[in-house]
Amino acid sequence: MEKLDALNTNRDVILKIENVDLTYDNNKDTKALDDFSMEIYNGEILGLVGESGCGKTTLGRAVIGLEEIDSGKISFMGNDIKYKDKKAIKKLRQNVQMIFQDPFLSLDPTMTVANVIKEPLLYLRKEMKGKERDLRLKEVMKHINMDEKFLNRKSGNLSGGQRQRVGIGRALAIEPKLIICDEPVSALDVSVQASILNLLKELQKELNLTMIFISHDLSVVNYLADRICVMLKGKICEIGNKKDIFENSKHPYTRYLLESIPKINLDEEEVIEDVEEIEYFSIGCPFRSRCKYATEICKKDFPEKSEEDGHIWYCYNSDDMK
Ligand SMILES: Nc1ncnc2c1ncn2[C@@H]1O[C@H](COP(=O)(O)OP(=O)(O)OP(=O)(O)O)[C@@H](O)[C@H]1O
Ligand SMILES: [Mg+2]
Repeated sequence: MEKLDALNTNRDVILKIENVDLTYDNNKDTKALDDFSMEIYNGEILGLVGESGCGKTTLGRAVIGLEEIDSGKISFMGNDIKYKDKKAIKKLRQNVQMIFQDPFLSLDPTMTVANVIKEPLLYLRKEMKGKERDLRLKEVMKHINMDEKFLNRKSGNLSGGQRQRVGIGRALAIEPKLIICDEPVSALDVSVQASILNLLKELQKELNLTMIFISHDLSVVNYLADRICVMLKGKICEIGNKKDIFENSKHPYTRYLLESIPKINLDEEEVIEDVEEIEYFSIGCPFRSRCKYATEICKKDFPEKSEEDGHIWYCYNSDDMK
């Protein structure tokens, strides 16, 4: 695939999500994804934000073929994902990988670092000979800035940051085009978070990766992402360039998220109250019970799409927002 120019103006669509609905078998009343549509451009970092339970992980899992969608379609590099076709899913995983939130849960602690990183090569790059694999292993260790002396260390005997580096290395091993990072730093010590974020940022540039970066922390997304998609209850409420979202947001929910950023003070031991019971609705705008701009119409229908230079939002009241 062509390299991107410095201004990131190449807008080839690498992933297209169209009108996707997804419900879990044991929870058919709630749509985890509700008529969800989005395009991801080649070589960009798309930050995906929204409160707990809004469907961020579900979307990631649907994109790598781990969770089957009920309707709509997802296509990667022009090919629709065929969830029931094992061969097609294997092919998809050769290009799309996921990094998970908790490196202590996602890696087998008894496996050596070498084996953790080699495992996807054995399964997804069967044509690779032993020597080639060892070379790749060394390349990966360089990418994640870890000394080769760690190769024989059990992954259970690593620090959180080191483990997440290994998780990143494992995802990179097969040279994927798209990586979905699902809250990759939220389980880590604050002091380690920045180094992992920097690593991801460097790798994305160096390897021309496309990245979906899931987080509920807008400040983290602000640091990494080119565009930001704000989700609410399985739907998109707003998507746009970082500047659109931070300086010209058009949705009250985005404003609410932005306003809550400074409240997170890492220096203070601030106890955050348990999640209040939020009332959601299957019809109309899911944010209306918390929205100071909401009117009768917000109860009836989900708003139509509004668009301005690629900045998209769904709200009846954007013009009233100060
Ligand atoms: N395996 C499952 N079975 C049933 N329901 C599920 C399952 N996984 C997720 N859900 C439900 O689907 C919805 C979306 O969940 P999801 O995990 O995608 O949210 P999220 O945005 O990743 O949240 P968080 O920020 O807490 O990780 C929620 O209502 C959740 O309860
Ligand atoms: Mg999640």
